[in-house]
Amino acid sequence: MRMLLVNAGPIAHMASGVPIRGHITDESEYIHKAGLGILVNDYIIERIDQTEALLAEFSDAEIVDLEGRAVIPGLVDSHTHLLWAGDRSREITWKQSGLSYKEIADRGGGISATVMPTRESSNEALAKLGLNRMAKSLRNGTTHLEVKSGYGLDTQSELRLLSVAESIAKVEGMPSLDLTWLGAHAAPPELSLDAYVEVLLSEQLPKITEQGYARSADVFCEPGWFSVEQSEEILKQSRKNGLDLRMHIDEFTDGGGGDLASELKVQTADHAHYSNDNARHAMNDSGVNTAFLPGTPYTMGDKFPPFDYCLENEILWSIASDFNPNCQTLSLPFIGSILVQRNDISPISALAACTVNSAATTPHPSGLAHGSIVEGSIANLNVLDSPWLESWCLKPGHSPFKATILEGQMIYH
Ligand code: NIG
Ligand code: FE
Repeated sequence: MRMLLVNAGPIAHMASGVPIRGHITDESEYIHKAGLGILVNDYIIERIDQTEALLAEFSDAEIVDLEGRAVIPGLVDSHTHLLWAGDRSREITWKQSGLSYKEIADRGGGISATVMPTRESSNEALAKLGLNRMAKSLRNGTTHLEVKSGYGLDTQSELRLLSVAESIAKVEGMPSLDLTWLGAHAAPPELSLDAYVEVLLSEQLPKITEQGYARSADVFCEPGWFSVEQSEEILKQSRKNGLDLRMHIDEFTDGGGGDLASELKVQTADHAHYSNDNARHAMNDSGVNTAFLPGTPYTMGDKFPPFDYCLENEILWSIASDFNPNCQTLSLPFIGSILVQRNDISPISALAACTVNSAATTPHPSGLAHGSIVEGSIANLNVLDSPWLESWCLKPGHSPFKATILEGQMIYH
């Protein structure tokens, strides 16, 4: 059955074939003017053309009148910690009394405070949490998410998190998932960091590889967590085992993770908040994507990373939610608002960072293009409740969307 969307407002197709670098100065390159229609055949975008032409040719399709509403691609959230249990809300008081993230971790908060409740949760409970979160994400226009393990921190629990993620990835009507093993997130409460690195290399990674659900490996490379040397060993071994590589770097301080990211040519180096300029350029020169996660400095009360410098210098970049117990947003429109309404980035440049650019690091399981609206790509799109494309990131706290088309299925919000 074909579905024909007619009378679209402006369509931010974002099609360029490659990630978009720098401030977008000529918006017309990435936007179709109002008046077009989009023909969806099953789960694929079959044609984009003038409304009248499509209506004449495909009068038997199910017709949906968009009444001039603007359209953007399904959003791609390329960095989430989707699966965990527990609640760390009380940490806000510690934060407000002046404790740093590291000090909170050292007194029993932080990542390890999420590990015990996660280990104690049943598969069913974790799947339910995951599905609820995916539904929130979809309500906010996300059609595909990268999902990391990392709150099990022993081999059995890490395997279990990935297997729960794999099972919810198959649920119809929910965003698709791309799975990442983040066993190297922190040392578990029962082991020293050195002993845990040994477990990661000799036991956990081989079992994760054998399980086969994770496409990528990630490491929290940060002074106080995994050193550059430990990260290098884990990442090199992961690559040998066929995993793609991602990193958390320089979240709180410039710890040298950027140099390792460029040396290893990892797919994406995320946070990159305090990276020095040389490391930023080295990463860019070696094709490493920088993913900014501004929800984290927002929840930490920190300043924001230098988006403008990176755009001025045409550094390869994306943005993502970093959804985790310390940063509980699954809304990319809210992340967009931080860039646009707090950091003077244009709405269309911010949109590139969580569509075509994030899709480049986070492939769709169908193998089809996503993050852009082109013929032959997966039919993942969002209809804004506005004739203006800019509205995608101007409603923090609310979803700006009227509807989402997920793999060809219309979902009215
Ligand atoms: O990306 N920094 C490491 N991991 C998460 C936070 C984890 C947590 O606080 O539970 C992040 O920000
Ligand atoms: Fe993270």
